[in-house]
Amino acid sequence: MDNLEQLVAQATADFDAATEPARLEEAKARYLGKDGSITVRLKGLGKLPPEEKKAAGAAINVAKQAVESALAARREALKNAQLAAQLASESLDITLPGRGQSRGALHPVTRSLERIEQLFRSIGFEVADGPEIEGDWHNFTALNTPEKHPARSMHDTFYLFDEQGKVQEDVLLRTHTSPVQIRYMQAHVARYQHLEHMPEIRVIAPGRVYRVDSDATHSPMFHQVEGLWVGEHVSFADLKGVVADFLRRFFESDDLKVRFRPSFFPFTEPSAEIDVAFMSGALEGRWLEIAGCGMVHPNVLRFGGIDPEKYTGFAFGMGPDRLTMLRYSIPDLRLFFEGDLRFLAQFQ
Ligand code: PHE
Repeated sequence: MDNLEQLVAQATADFDAATEPARLEEAKARYLGKDGSITVRLKGLGKLPPEEKKAAGAAINVAKQAVESALAARREALKNAQLAAQLASESLDITLPGRGQSRGALHPVTRSLERIEQLFRSIGFEVADGPEIEGDWHNFTALNTPEKHPARSMHDTFYLFDEQGKVQEDVLLRTHTSPVQIRYMQAHVARYQHLEHMPEIRVIAPGRVYRVDSDATHSPMFHQVEGLWVGEHVSFADLKGVVADFLRRFFESDDLKVRFRPSFFPFTEPSAEIDVAFMSGALEGRWLEIAGCGMVHPNVLRFGGIDPEKYTGFAFGMGPDRLTMLRYSIPDLRLFFEGDLRFLAQFQ
């Protein structure tokens, strides 16, 4: 390899052919090592006649520099390639498809509650609510339920205990939504006191209630929707009309029988229980109790701040859980509160 240009070209080609650092260092030794072709030529300068030395030396040095810079370039290239490979192997692949998310849906009871609210709003009812932790007075006394009434017993109600283990007389989980009647009447009266003619009260109050009770059709926590209509000429006929019409619209069926069965509640007089029966389908002909109702007792109106000589009213308390069971033919109430997605997903 006499021709220096060829030598440089060959060295560059050798360097480029080396794909890893060890191979590159081997190639370097062939040119620049102790016995490398460039080194050998430099050593050979001494044998040249003095007049040729300078030019030959200069040419070899030019070639040496060219080889060195080809080597440096290749080193740099290999280093970059190695870095790139490392980055590639260590990087996260963020392009994987996601795991997907299932869409939630409203609970069947929530659907019923929304439907109930919508139907009552359409006939001019407001929607109100009240606290789930109630006082004795609102839950019982103001609802004309005397102190020794069995509804107050420990077996029917959840009381709260203080740190000494004593019952906190005045704090309990409400057993029904009826205390909202009292709260709403009082607020209504306070708001419209100054008017000669108080506007009618027309309100429903959906919410959770609590009782010591648990089987396929009873849960210790369940829902009620209270209804209250108070005005100057509100009658039992209005109660029947409003409830029967609501039920037909709720179940989307005229094929429905509604029955008012005489009953007793301390806070209504007269009182009734409301049963429904479907005239077709799986439940054909079976009467199912879905609400209690009656004309608001004069004492209750008084506790609410309303003059029973001037105003009358009706009230009802419905079980939307039961209504939902009927609407979707669900046999066991407990399914609503277990949170089993296989059950809930059917209502999406
Ligand atoms: N509060 C009663 C209950 O829980 C239902 C009811 C409400 C009855 C309003 C009459 C009037 O059983």
